[in-house]
Amino acid sequence: MNDFPRTAAMMARGAAFLGSEHAILCGAMSWVSERNLVAAISNAGGFGVIACGAMSPELLDREIAATKALTTKPFGVNLITMHPGLFDLIEVCARHRVGHVVLAGGIPPKGSVEAIKAFGAKVIVFAPTLALAKKLFRSGADALVIEGSEAGGHIGPVATSVLAQEFLPELAAEHLVFVAGGIGRGEGIAAYLEMGACGVQLGTRFACATESIAHPAFKKAFFRGNARDAVASVRVDPRLPVIPVRALKNKGTEAFTAKQIEVAARLDAGELDMGAAQLEIEHFWAGALRRAVIEGDVEHGSLMAGQSVGMVSKEEPVAEIMAQLLAESEAALLRRAA
Ligand SMILES: Cc1cc2nc3c(=O)[nH]c(=O)nc-3n(C[C@H](O)[C@H](O)[C@H](O)COP(=O)(O)O)c2cc1C
Repeated sequence: MNDFPRTAAMMARGAAFLGSEHAILCGAMSWVSERNLVAAISNAGGFGVIACGAMSPELLDREIAATKALTTKPFGVNLITMHPGLFDLIEVCARHRVGHVVLAGGIPPKGSVEAIKAFGAKVIVFAPTLALAKKLFRSGADALVIEGSEAGGHIGPVATSVLAQEFLPELAAEHLVFVAGGIGRGEGIAAYLEMGACGVQLGTRFACATESIAHPAFKKAFFRGNARDAVASVRVDPRLPVIPVRALKNKGTEAFTAKQIEVAARLDAGELDMGAAQLEIEHFWAGALRRAVIEGDVEHGSLMAGQSVGMVSKEEPVAEIMAQLLAESEAALLRRAA
């Protein structure tokens, strides 16, 4: 007997697709979503996703193998579309028979969806507009994550609540749509399930779980942070293809502004083209996030966090967070049924 029957019924399509007990994904978080957190999420009945980030194929190979050693449950791999070795990374996923690949960070390049489906894996994509979402489904995507600007990390300009109203009525009956961004409690999960989502994706709420390898100083910054402290980065030069990033405000926020000015000057001097400029910016983030997550430099590193950070107040095992979210969702659905 399921402890959360209403939630389980509304998540049934998403859970069947993921092969997990609950349709709750822990969104890939660079440096944070490695073997320990990913396995803990999947072992707790959710769906963990390895953040490949800027990893080489060799590193990804090791991370997948190490995750498999910690869980027999399904998990996915998140690949960034602009990674120069994307097809080699897909090859690694194929060798490991990874069941689900999430393509993040832009429109999937030609042939990537096909290459993933060729070894039998499911493809999960992001789409900033409804038109693009429909196009991606037509091109073979199996599921979609809509992620609002409340989220931690790289963000689009539109709030989750608006995206949900725009996308779910059009797509949810025929397609699998997961909602992400700003979800910190089960009441939020219940609301999106009622709107037609087949499941949800959370990042910030899981980043400081006991099993997360994030540095204690990184976790402490999250416990202290409030929604209003998790701010979107500012774009200094309109020419630069800078995707805004939401993070807790610190000295690193100012360093990013300085980095943009430096990259713009090198663009003017002809030392970089637009593609190289974007890669440079992304490498900056990867390095800054590593400094905070791994080294604990919470002053100068990047503390990527969503607005739900205010709902993260202590270190808890993943299984407890998961049970709490499900109980809150169930209670909300029960209240509405009464
Ligand atoms: C520290 C951090 C790092 C992240 N890194 C990535 C990443 O590498 N790739 C990605 O697709 N999303 C990344 N995200 C976004 C998460 O996967 C997830 O979609 C997001 O956190 C959901 O919103 P929430 O933070 O409001 O729960 C990151 C988020 C955080 C907080």
